Amino acid sequence: MITGGAGFIGSHVVRRFLKKYPNYFIVNVDKLTYAGNLANIKDVCTLPNYQFERVDIVDAQAIQAIFKKYNITDVIHLAAESHVDRSIEGPMDFVMTNVVGTVNLLQAAKDSWSGDLQNHVFHHVSTDEVYGSLGEDGLFTEKTPYDPRSPYSASKAASDHFIKAFYHTYGLPIKLSNCSNNYGSHHFPEKLIPLMIHNIQHNKPLPVYGKGENIRDWLWVEDHASAIDAIFHHGRMGESYNVGGLNEWTNIELVKHLCSLMDQKLGRPKGESEKLITFVQDRAGHDKRYAIDASKLEEELGWTPSISFEEGLSKTVDWYLENEAWVNQVTSGAYQAYYENMYGSK
Ligand code: NAD
Ligand code: TYD
Repeated sequence: MITGGAGFIGSHVVRRFLKKYPNYFIVNVDKLTYAGNLANIKDVCTLPNYQFERVDIVDAQAIQAIFKKYNITDVIHLAAESHVDRSIEGPMDFVMTNVVGTVNLLQAAKDSWSGDLQNHVFHHVSTDEVYGSLGEDGLFTEKTPYDPRSPYSASKAASDHFIKAFYHTYGLPIKLSNCSNNYGSHHFPEKLIPLMIHNIQHNKPLPVYGKGENIRDWLWVEDHASAIDAIFHHGRMGESYNVGGLNEWTNIELVKHLCSLMDQKLGRPKGESEKLITFVQDRAGHDKRYAIDASKLEEELGWTPSISFEEGLSKTVDWYLENEAWVNQVTSGAYQAYYENMYGSK
């Protein structure tokens, strides 16, 4: 079972596993919220080793039924409410999906695998945001104490604690990964990089929060999928692994870099798109800096990122420019209402 397989990262994980492991039967469990879109996996959804189930992980009975129906042997859990700004507007969906939904899955796995725990894996996909916010120096390691500061990261931290609690209390075979910010194709255009690409393309204002000095550590989404593959198959049971690419950018430098890249790709005069940058009110409780030490993953499992940021960003921009139909499809009426509420009607 892969949960959240119609979302951004989940769709890349589903695609990778279906293609690389044709002997695995993959059940993709997804509620199809505003962020879930079957178009994300339309290239692989007709494969014989794939089945989609539209299920809300908050529905404990439905989850138990899926475990029984397919005799689920392993779980990679990505389904979540994932956008910090939305969590600030309304935390309860985050509590329900990220906390209650995760515990429902753990409970179903525990009931279904009892007596045979050693032959299964429950891999929970989490975020570096559970560690809180860094100052100028230092990196998050797996030993950094949890210090979540947004409703999103608090809900993910709670889910991580339940994952570890089920390992220690019931011996459930869990693995946990905490990754930095991802970028790449099929990223919902409410997040920084796809939102900026879309607005640059359409000459709309580029809303940079505060002074744009906050720092994020960006990883190519397919490298996250390859890390999940490595951890799921070879990571030690009960362990957590940080995933990241040592690739820190202030938001303003990243947006300027995207502007210059897109000026070149769109044939605009140098410096043209930068004029769209608009500093807007800062996010409440905005975490200053995230940065990941992924040396445990590299040393134990030999994982390293496969491509440079330069190459990944260029591929990402190309994908968005070539897939306007996808963007138009996912930015439905409901998304328009969210955008207007966040940024005004421009
Ligand atoms: P996303 O918002 O793009 O996709 C989430 C998916 O989960 C969607 O398909 C949605 O329909 C589904 N979903 C939401 N609520 C559900 C529910 N109640 N029941 C069933 N399905 C539900 O998110 P993403 O960016 O792909 O993130 C996937 C996972 O990776 C999340 O757990 C997130 O916390 C984690 N993560 C994300 C990043 C990042 O940069 N995006 C970084 C590290 C970790
Ligand atoms: P985001 O993509 O929402 O990821 P996260 O908050 O989980 O790191 O935001 C990345 C950074 O970009 C974060 O510091 C907030 C900032 N940001 C903006 O400046 N403007 C925007 O319109 C958005 C969506 C984000």
